[in-house]
Amino acid sequence: MVEFSGFYKLPMEERIRRIAEHARLSDSEVSLLRGSGALSLESVDRMVENAVGAVHLPLGLGLNFIINGKEYVVPMALEEPSVVAAASHGAKLCLPEGFTASADEPIMTGQIQLVGLKDARGAISSVLAHRDELEKTAKKLLQSMESRGGGFRGISAKQFRTPRGAMAVFYFDVDVRDSMGANTLNTFLEGIAPRVQEYAGEGKVRLRILSNLATKRMARAKAVWKKEVIGPEAVEAVLDAYELACADVYRAATHNKGIMNGIDALALATGNDWRAVEAGAHAYASLKGYTSLTRYGKDSSGSLVGEIELPMALATVGGSIGSNPIAKISLKILNAASARELSMVAACVGLANNFAALRALCVEGIQKGHMELQARNLAMLAGASPTEADEVALQLTKEGAYKLGRAKEILKTIRSKKN
Ligand code: MEV
Repeated sequence: MVEFSGFYKLPMEERIRRIAEHARLSDSEVSLLRGSGALSLESVDRMVENAVGAVHLPLGLGLNFIINGKEYVVPMALEEPSVVAAASHGAKLCLPEGFTASADEPIMTGQIQLVGLKDARGAISSVLAHRDELEKTAKKLLQSMESRGGGFRGISAKQFRTPRGAMAVFYFDVDVRDSMGANTLNTFLEGIAPRVQEYAGEGKVRLRILSNLATKRMARAKAVWKKEVIGPEAVEAVLDAYELACADVYRAATHNKGIMNGIDALALATGNDWRAVEAGAHAYASLKGYTSLTRYGKDSSGSLVGEIELPMALATVGGSIGSNPIAKISLKILNAASARELSMVAACVGLANNFAALRALCVEGIQKGHMELQARNLAMLAGASPTEADEVALQLTKEGAYKLGRAKEILKTIRSKKN
């Protein structure tokens, strides 16, 4: 952790030098970080249709994360000021213990929908009577995943009465190892659907698609913020804020948005499908009526105990990761050996961001940090050097005047005093 103390105060070049040393980045990886053309037009063209360019986002580092005793430097890609600082601050305040975290085996669930049924229950029984054959076919279709220690894990079914008649849905569980699993699941489901149709004896297969509500792929994290460190008032304040998220869905949405700020940023930095993680998180939050993804309470010494649990379909291989050099560098910086480890880190980042947001909202308000960054931005836009920018920003903040014109005037005065 020593090599990162005061990291935010260092010039950009020095920060790059330090992270390169820490993550053993090669010269070409360092030049990718320095440059802005990390995604070549050639790869962009392979990734989406009608491609005309690439959008870039700042890449920041979440610091102070000790998780199950291991130190992590967390790459975070996003445009919103304060989120990286909030995550790092939330993580710092629970040191030296840091976080404990766990994640389930990477099991994704896919659905096959059968419609036009006269007897949904009968169709389900007929299909499930062929469980062994289905398992054999599944293992064949998932051969490559099976050979990596993953593969078929089970089948279940449910019937639904809908305005369009009775439907049956078959849920296939597949261990997708270090991938996100969408391609594996969707290909597999399309492959096995004809068997389901045949064994059902009636009806028609419609959807064959993975579910983003990955309840068999959960990640959990826990941290204790000591009363002596954050102060007894902050403990009470966070508990009050938390209870509101449990009581009021309008607050729960914003509360959970703050959690996803950090998780999405890590997902984006590592080339993951952050929309899938978002969908899973919010669907999970609504299982018993939309509510907070975190829980808070006090331990016997009056310290704040925070916990989070949510589905986490994150990958360290596959998807667009291979064609995204910055994603590969981010994974190198994170140094997580598996998708499960990445998921644990994501849960901790979500918890850290949530704690930091609640504390800041109740204690000092979140605008202070935002405005300090805004002041620095204005100073740089006014033409200040990094050292002058600190002085200009300080004055702008003191005056509460966040205008480019005023930044230029202050810079002029500073320079005239020096000459
Ligand atoms: C802003 O991006 C996130 C917050 O609104 C989260 C919250 O209110 O808990 C600060």
